[in-house]
Amino acid sequence: MTEQTFNSATSEWYYPSDDVVKHARVPDYEAMYAEAERDLEAFWGKMASNLDWYAPWQKVLDQSQAPFYKWFVGGKINIAANALDRHVKTWRKNKLALIWEGEPGDKVTLSYWRLWKETNKFANVLRSMGVRKGDRVTIYMGRIPEIMIAMLACAKIGAVHSVVYGGFSEQALADRIEDAQSKVLVTADGAWLRGNIVRLKDTVDEAVRRSPVVETVIVVKRTGHDVTMEQGRDYWYHDLMGLPIASPNCETEVMDAEDPLFILYTSGTTGKPKGVLHTHGGYSVYTSTTLSCVFDIKDEDRYWCAADPGWITGHSYIVYAPLILGATSVLYEGAPNHPYPDRWWRIVEDYGVSILYTAPTAIRGLMRFGDNWPNRRDLSSLRLLGTVGEPINPEAWRWYNKVIGKETCPIMDTWWQTETGGFMITPMPSVPLKPGSATRPFPGIKVDVVDEHGNPVPTGEDGVLVIQQPWPGMLRTVYGDPDRYVSQYWSTYDKQGWYLTGDTARKDEDGYIWIIGRNDDVIKVSGYRLGTAEVESGLVSHPTVAESAVIAIPDEVRGNVIYAYCILRTGVERSEELKDALKDHIRHEIGPIAVPAKIEFVDALPKTRSGKIMRRVLRARAQGLPEGDTSTLEE
Ligand code: WT7
Repeated sequence: MTEQTFNSATSEWYYPSDDVVKHARVPDYEAMYAEAERDLEAFWGKMASNLDWYAPWQKVLDQSQAPFYKWFVGGKINIAANALDRHVKTWRKNKLALIWEGEPGDKVTLSYWRLWKETNKFANVLRSMGVRKGDRVTIYMGRIPEIMIAMLACAKIGAVHSVVYGGFSEQALADRIEDAQSKVLVTADGAWLRGNIVRLKDTVDEAVRRSPVVETVIVVKRTGHDVTMEQGRDYWYHDLMGLPIASPNCETEVMDAEDPLFILYTSGTTGKPKGVLHTHGGYSVYTSTTLSCVFDIKDEDRYWCAADPGWITGHSYIVYAPLILGATSVLYEGAPNHPYPDRWWRIVEDYGVSILYTAPTAIRGLMRFGDNWPNRRDLSSLRLLGTVGEPINPEAWRWYNKVIGKETCPIMDTWWQTETGGFMITPMPSVPLKPGSATRPFPGIKVDVVDEHGNPVPTGEDGVLVIQQPWPGMLRTVYGDPDRYVSQYWSTYDKQGWYLTGDTARKDEDGYIWIIGRNDDVIKVSGYRLGTAEVESGLVSHPTVAESAVIAIPDEVRGNVIYAYCILRTGVERSEELKDALKDHIRHEIGPIAVPAKIEFVDALPKTRSGKIMRRVLRARAQGLPEGDTSTLEE
């Protein structure tokens, strides 16, 4: 393998052009950072006043029940009113909110007016199904406009959506339905991917069999293949949208700033995913402020965040923040290389995309096909690029900068998490870049790199990344498990308001932050977040596996791949077929992203005397490296 990560000690500077600085929404990062530092509440209060509120807040930040912080206390708001209702009263009524392209090549455009009407209609459908304020609705679909409509419709009536990424399978979906106790599920018959149909409805049928709390399933017809519809439980979306109850006018529920907006499950250090909870008020303020400053969106932009609405990147920066800002977004359903590896570059050319936000794994994947594919397309509309999800390696950064950005588009390397709601450590277009560094914290965000006692580590050394004061976009709790919220994020150091990120980082002499990677049992595969424990419990749920351990091994395209070590039950024969069966089992239970690249059968696993698996030893062995200190090894 060639160079893996940038070296913070020998990094070069990349300066934005005078033109970029002159037109940037935030020309002076230092001044904005200082303003927030002087008076945090005044700063966020000012940002919040860019939104429409039904009633003003009495206090910006209430710390009295820390770490259960409250933002914009007493304020009344609805994120859907800010994303849609307010725009249809202005000239934006006629502006495109969404330009959508399906993988087979079909196209849909939705003006703000149309998106607002469709949302109202579906909100009325949900209400007629008995969905009320506070009820949870699970959404499981591909990248089609209806996923946005379903999310916005929930927000509009005060229901709490739980979007489950369409790449998850039966058990992962069933667990998330069960945890959220959703009575209504919105899905599609299928999704197009690489010319094939992903049979979403089949997965739903099995998941609902396992989690029978679901009473109603609403199905968007996307792929049109045959699916089973259960009488009295399953309804076609288009049938419901054609009924008189689907009136195009719908009153928006007045929500408290702290009322829940959505739950989004993410992997942690145990087998059970965490339901990260975000709210209407603080989340609206934080996502729209960060998007406006970092991607500098202007009315004439065509902005494309190529993530999936089913992940936090999509929630924040495909659905909510762009709509709050009145932007025009592009959404594409399928694979980047279908039918040819220039699909993305053709979309940029066809729609004149000016801002492109994606992940290092996608960049590396497209880089493999060579420069000719992008070079044959006109990419001159691009003015800004972005990346998220994992540290970007030098080759990918240079290719993105040179071949895609033609050395004229600053690259916004945005560090954040499902839990943070929005960008935390990020440049802005006017900020000088160091390739490989997410640069410095957003105004109002205080971060440091510390040792196990909470003391700052010397410049250039690795330490734990902590956030040292609350911010409006922060998660409010782990759904149904407030103790886990406190112990997971706020209890490692004896310091009030210190949030533990789970990442290792380094700070250089200019205060620039370099993210190294996770320091807990979370792995990033193609930018997706998976818990080792989740994959391990998936493996042991197979009748042949007694015990298993899962590790991450670096991979050139996917960042990491999974290696799994399994101890089989007595009497079970080892075979290549069994390895395939186990991979298939994981594909079905969790999803294709969690399938191990390699499975090895072993007699024992390296463990400490207290029984903790020593993944370090496994990793060293898999990579042919020295195993290090094994004095605490039991087996
Ligand atoms: C983890 C969070 C937030 C949207 C997608 C990921 C890693 C995220 C960067 C970046 C280096 C990054 C971290 C973080 N990460 N962005 N720009 N540079 N690492 O959200 O699935 O909650 O994962 O992704 O390790 O902790 P997520």
